[in-house]
Amino acid sequence: MTTTDDQTIGTADDVLVSLFSDPAVRADPYPAYGQLRETAPVHHSAVLPLWVATRYDDCGTVLRDPRFGKSEEVQRIFGSSAQSADREVPIFSRYSMLRMNPPDHTRMRSLVAREFTPRRVEELRPAVAAMVDEVLDELADAGGGDVMDVLAFPLPVRVIGELLGVPIEDREQFRWIVRDAAGALEPMASAETIAAAETASNTMNDYFRSLIAERRNRPSDDLIGGLIGVRDGSDRLSEDELVATIVLLFAAGFETTTNLIGNGLISLLRNRDQMQMLRSDPTYGHGAVEEMLRYESSVQLDARTALEDADIAGHHIDAGRVVLTLLGAANRDPDRYQDPDRFDITRTGIQHLSFAAGIHYCLGAPLARLEGEVVFERLLARFPTIDADTTPVWRPSLTLRGLEALQVSLR
Ligand code: HEM
Repeated sequence: MTTTDDQTIGTADDVLVSLFSDPAVRADPYPAYGQLRETAPVHHSAVLPLWVATRYDDCGTVLRDPRFGKSEEVQRIFGSSAQSADREVPIFSRYSMLRMNPPDHTRMRSLVAREFTPRRVEELRPAVAAMVDEVLDELADAGGGDVMDVLAFPLPVRVIGELLGVPIEDREQFRWIVRDAAGALEPMASAETIAAAETASNTMNDYFRSLIAERRNRPSDDLIGGLIGVRDGSDRLSEDELVATIVLLFAAGFETTTNLIGNGLISLLRNRDQMQMLRSDPTYGHGAVEEMLRYESSVQLDARTALEDADIAGHHIDAGRVVLTLLGAANRDPDRYQDPDRFDITRTGIQHLSFAAGIHYCLGAPLARLEGEVVFERLLARFPTIDADTTPVWRPSLTLRGLEALQVSLR
């Protein structure tokens, strides 16, 4: 068994506190990740009572190993810093597959996957291209603008909104509701953030519960209609599972993809040679999106609980203990990627952890990839010159990494 000396624990905990609470460190978390990876790659934190893994192999093991799974413990720990008494934070409903373990998770995921298929997603490609072109027309007329506001947010909301069948006039309000709900995903969230997350979750649940009731009376051929009718033999989704699934698909489907577009564009703007290469050879499109996901992941951390005693890299993890996997750190592990801090769209063999790994691997990955590929293909084909301030403001969150705004001028 490996032990870590007190000095290292102090230093690693200082780094964690800065990551969890200092917006300046969060704006560029990679040096802090590097320090953790080097000095305490599997670290038991005294700041929050949990383990933190930063190496690619260790994070991959935790995410894939069936001895690790989901529990209420993560929400309790994330919420406890904001409460006098420990309290569970409702990140997503307990009927959401995101919070389940097998066999419940297996059953629910396979029911949902029957309707939310890669083929259904791929069929959207022409419609997504048309939506992107429409937004690019507006940007061209204005000579530029805030890409986050005009493209990165509205596009994923429109795509998932169309797919699910959420009325257009209802979509815009969810920008702030989903952002509030995501506040509960942050370690050491404040009491205010957690209260706002709770209100936002309730609003989403109520909204989708009544939309489902409406669709039961007037059947539709969108994804909500499909999920209402989905069956496996005599098995089907219960009402609570249906609401939880639709909330999850809707919410997970845009905050993350919004940030893929913003984080990807800032990476290209900061690495002009790579932007030029992608512009002159669009066949790099798929690889470029994978590199964007690796290099500036929209999801920076994930968590699992040891369901039984387990060992990670020589450290004994007691059953019931939470392990945070810092995906953004794992994606830049020099033992996995050569020159990991270099943004290189020609990189081969990328298997980033930005969509996690194992049984909870992102169900929306094909959709996120499709949107990313179409956006960058159309944007670069349309505008030979894209200029921007390459020191934009990052949002203060750590779990979900994204830009507050990204002003560009286009010609
Ligand atoms: C760049 C965009 C995206 C990123 C980085 C991302 C990331 C992730 C990650 C890290 C997980 C695992 C969470 C965990 O282990 O607890 C996950 C799960 C999930 N994601 Fe995504 N996601 C993205 C886009 C989407 C989209 C577009 C959708 C759907 C429309 C979606 C739906 C889901 C669902 C349903 C799960 C739960 C899977 C399960 O628990 O089995 N995601 N995503």
